[in-house]
Amino acid sequence: MANTVIVGAQWGDEGKGKIIDVLSEEADIVVRYQGGNNAGHTVKTGDATYVLHLVPSGILHPEKMCVLGNGVVIDPLAFLDEVTKIESKGISTRGRLFVSERAHVVFPYHRALDEQREARSSRDRKIGTTKRGIGPCYGDKVSRVGLRVCDLLDSRFGELVTPRLEEANRVLQALGGEALDSAQIVRQYQEAAARIAPYVTDTVVLLNRAIREGKAVLFEGAQGTLLDIDFGSYPFVTSSNATAGGACTGTGIPPHRIDRVIGVVKAYTTRVGEGPFATELCDEVGATLSREGNEFGATTGRPRRCGWFDAVVARYAAMINGVDFWAITKLDVMDGIKTIKICTAYEYKGQILETVPASAHVLARCRPIYEEMEGWQTSIRNVVRWEDLPVQARSYVNRLCELTGVPLGILSVGAGRENTLRVGI
Ligand code: GDP
Ligand code: IMO
Ligand code: MG
Repeated sequence: MANTVIVGAQWGDEGKGKIIDVLSEEADIVVRYQGGNNAGHTVKTGDATYVLHLVPSGILHPEKMCVLGNGVVIDPLAFLDEVTKIESKGISTRGRLFVSERAHVVFPYHRALDEQREARSSRDRKIGTTKRGIGPCYGDKVSRVGLRVCDLLDSRFGELVTPRLEEANRVLQALGGEALDSAQIVRQYQEAAARIAPYVTDTVVLLNRAIREGKAVLFEGAQGTLLDIDFGSYPFVTSSNATAGGACTGTGIPPHRIDRVIGVVKAYTTRVGEGPFATELCDEVGATLSREGNEFGATTGRPRRCGWFDAVVARYAAMINGVDFWAITKLDVMDGIKTIKICTAYEYKGQILETVPASAHVLARCRPIYEEMEGWQTSIRNVVRWEDLPVQARSYVNRLCELTGVPLGILSVGAGRENTLRVGI
């Protein structure tokens, strides 16, 4: 299989975990390139359901290698917890799960700062973060004061982290929060370091060598294009490059070694957290999508906001990521809907916009322009061939592809591996 980036084309939770699990079958290595345990990727295999936050979704295939690249931010305690849970289900991780020594480490003060900033923001500035310390950790990385996995394993770790803890405690107290127990954190992280050490390696060398040997790599994106720090609905975004470009900077693999990009989109749209969402439905249809799609955050349990498919967003995501094929998910969730709407453009102050405006303030004031299609109003969960889908369902999917200029590759009509139609690839 070609080296493939799997990227979310909306606001996250598109079903990337499921698609990665399905495609892992044909890959040798699955590598996460950004984000941290803010992600929640749910994978259903037969009767078992796994929710993965840091560990790549390829881990459920026992013979595959999994990597956390340098672009990921790692909370070592969360990582070890997740590994313990995976191992308790009889899945071994030793010798096939690797962590980059260049990845930045999330500390309790990052989480505390995340919480404090959110608590102190005015209502219209709250981001609705997952409170996993992601923003403050990436902030330290860019400010060149972060600590990396190689520092965690260094014998000077105590000396390196102490000034960071002292500074963080001053900031936390100034914000009205409580100081953290520095000695306890140092001890806890030193213990974690010993347990994490067997997983740590130079993943840049490991991945480049594997590619040179002809191994196929799957790049697992977390979050989605509209949550990207550069291209998303800033400031209501996460703090990393979730888009395909992040696959290079987050792993050390050169761009010309990437063969294709698969964009994952839901057949409708969801968003968890604050920020503009032009096609949001606060009515009975929104409630139906939420109920039928079981739209609750896999990390925080918060209800996800639901709305119609936004072709402006998906077209923009296709452009930025260079999407070769769509993996369209959760089409079955729309089974009961009589008339379906698709947003084809926005109207803003009398002007028609065909792409996503830079300003979240403007996006929040865009009015979606809809076209309507007839629903299929029958269950498609057991359909395994494209030809067997109701004509209305095929027309809807074809229209999404037409409006976004991207062909269909995979269609998902249920959470299970078996509910996956390979169409174009
Ligand atoms: P991710 O963050 O992009 O990996 O997505 P999440 O795992 O957070 O959310 C997607 C949810 O939808 C998960 O609970 C999946 O099990 C489920 N899912 C994925 N594909 C389908 C589908 O085609 N139909 C239905 N009904 N559920 C799906
Ligand atoms: P997956 O990989 C959906 C959202 C948060 C918040 C914003 C910033 O499962 O698709 P952060 O904690 O990252 O600083 O929060 O981003 N967010 C996600 N929304 N899916 C995710 O990941 C998300 N990760 C972060 O809700 O609005
Ligand atoms: Mg998710």
